[in-house]
Amino acid sequence: MVYYGYASYYPYFKYAALAIIAVALPIVALVILKLFQKLSVGRCRSMVCLIGKTAIVTGACSGLGFQTALVLASRGARVILADKVDLSKAKKKIIQKTHNENVVTKHLDLASLDSVRKFAKDVNATEERLDILINNAGVGSVGNKYTEDGLHPTMQINHFGPFLLTHLLTDLLKKSAPSRVIFVSSASAFITNLTVDNLNYPENHPLSLYYTTLIYGNSKLCNVIAANGFAERLKDSGVTSNSLHPGMVNTDIYLKSGSFLGLKSFAKLFRNIVLFSYGKTAEEGAQTIIHLALCNKLKEVTGKHFWDCRLFPSPPGTWNKKFADIIWEKSEELVGLKPEEKLKEE
Ligand SMILES: NC(=O)c1ccc[n+]([C@@H]2O[C@H](COP(=O)([O-])OP(=O)(O)OC[C@H]3O[C@@H](n4cnc5c(N)ncnc54)[C@H](OP(=O)(O)O)[C@@H]3O)[C@@H](O)[C@H]2O)c1
Repeated sequence: MVYYGYASYYPYFKYAALAIIAVALPIVALVILKLFQKLSVGRCRSMVCLIGKTAIVTGACSGLGFQTALVLASRGARVILADKVDLSKAKKKIIQKTHNENVVTKHLDLASLDSVRKFAKDVNATEERLDILINNAGVGSVGNKYTEDGLHPTMQINHFGPFLLTHLLTDLLKKSAPSRVIFVSSASAFITNLTVDNLNYPENHPLSLYYTTLIYGNSKLCNVIAANGFAERLKDSGVTSNSLHPGMVNTDIYLKSGSFLGLKSFAKLFRNIVLFSYGKTAEEGAQTIIHLALCNKLKEVTGKHFWDCRLFPSPPGTWNKKFADIIWEKSEELVGLKPEEKLKEE
């Protein structure tokens, strides 16, 4: 009998080792990626107390808006939750968690200029001050039909509505100075095809990922243009205006948009695998918003863009001042600003 010893198993050992490496390497890479994602999350370290301050958070019913409102309430602020849906559950939860009873809800549908005007009129008539305005509400896609105002719905909810709202609340913000306006933009502001002619994107475009990505990107670029525009026009008034990207956050926005595009299953898969594993939680995503809202070091910082609680270069679409001014003026026209409501550059 010929005895070959362990040498005869050698090819099997080799294959087993290769198989283990093939499985282990991606797992190690995914773990490193997750560690990197967790460690790179910017955190608001400010301990500022907000008793005596009033804040408005739009889109406060869920996701980033809810988390932001929760933190502002926990710091003692009077928080006005604004959304188009019933906010009673959100209010109850915030009061339960923070024991701050000074939380109120107001209806605001950013897809209607009339609703924005009614909301602003109500706030101006009933609130003594406004220290923090957080333009957070947003959508990925809600279809391709114009609203009753003749505006593209994504552009109206994400840009035209907050643009009008901020104008209408400017006097109250000035009266309460030092005060802050925050626009929740997105990294998508770097992926755009914005021109003055497609600012109000033509309706009935195909409901595809391609168009949705561009229109969403255009609206988020407009958020940065608006933040910078308010910063310039409110210079020396004590009102600052900044924008931010919150990161890729595991919220409902992906599912809501997915259902409009007929991609609900894909959106679910994306959320359950990619966002669950590598996205930020809403609590983590809200950190940069909170940082801009209350950090003492940013008291006089205005017209800047932030990622992960740090300064970040503004999207290229904001670099040309002439282009930004044209978008501003066209937006003034499309939201029907009256001459006395317009802001002049200081
Ligand atoms: N999640 C991310 O990865 C990510 C990344 C970059 C930027 N952002 C931005 O972060 C902001 C918050 O998004 P989110 O992720 O927290 O999504 P979300 O959970 O869907 O929250 C958006 C909020 O806006 C509200 N809203 C929608 N349409 C409105 C309207 N017409 N009038 C008033 N409120 C309206 C929503 O109300 P309903 O619940 O009724 O729809 C919801 O409460 C958005 O501006 C988004 O563009 C998010």
